[in-house]
Amino acid sequence: MDARQLKIEAARVALENVEAGMKLGIGTGSTAEEFVRLLAERIEGGLQIQAVPTSERTAGLCVELGVPLFSLDELPQLDLTIDGADEVDGDLQIIKGGGGALLREKIVATASDELIVIADESKVVDVLGRFPLPIEINMFGHVVSRIAIESAASSLGLHGAIELRKDRDVPFETDGGHYILDASFGRIPDAEALANALQAIPGVVEHGLFLNIASAAIIAGSSGIRTMKK
Ligand code: A5P
Repeated sequence: MDARQLKIEAARVALENVEAGMKLGIGTGSTAEEFVRLLAERIEGGLQIQAVPTSERTAGLCVELGVPLFSLDELPQLDLTIDGADEVDGDLQIIKGGGGALLREKIVATASDELIVIADESKVVDVLGRFPLPIEINMFGHVVSRIAIESAASSLGLHGAIELRKDRDVPFETDGGHYILDASFGRIPDAEALANALQAIPGVVEHGLFLNIASAAIIAGSSGIRTMKK
């Protein structure tokens, strides 16, 4: 099975958790997009749900495929969010934000009774940190924020390049009008300490550590599908 097929399989199993009448958060990224495609088929077959997208990109695909969309302010309490991940460890701690949508993803996920993550086996790690950690920061004073992040990380024994994400030659801008720093710390043994340190920096809008948020991860590998649960 190729990588795309694995994503489709994970999305297909996630769809089994969707029931008529649900208010659903819809994630961002290539795996979440496979979920949107399968969901749209079910909607065409008569399934009624209401959806809140986590990005303009996901919103565009939902509109194209006829998935009924609402804002999070119209539906402030969601039953379930299905989203992708950049890394998942054995305790269901997650890194997200490779697609740049981490802020809305975290707001939507925490407004949901449940977050189910869908991914292929390549995303599973023993310890978080192989994937550079995305950190969303305010444009104002972004150099100051980077220096503060370097210093906070260093006091936790974390070192490595922290790079401003670029879109061709210009800084990448999130849907919320912020920048993203990608921090290549390597192994992050104490993700909670890092999350707390990042949150204490004024210019940090949000970080890609999704700790104690997901209730399950559906992982597709060449030997089949497995579900990791809390
Ligand atoms: C988007 O900001 C991310 O959090 C994505 O959910 C994550 O990058 C997974 O994307 P893929 O499914 O494309 O790997």
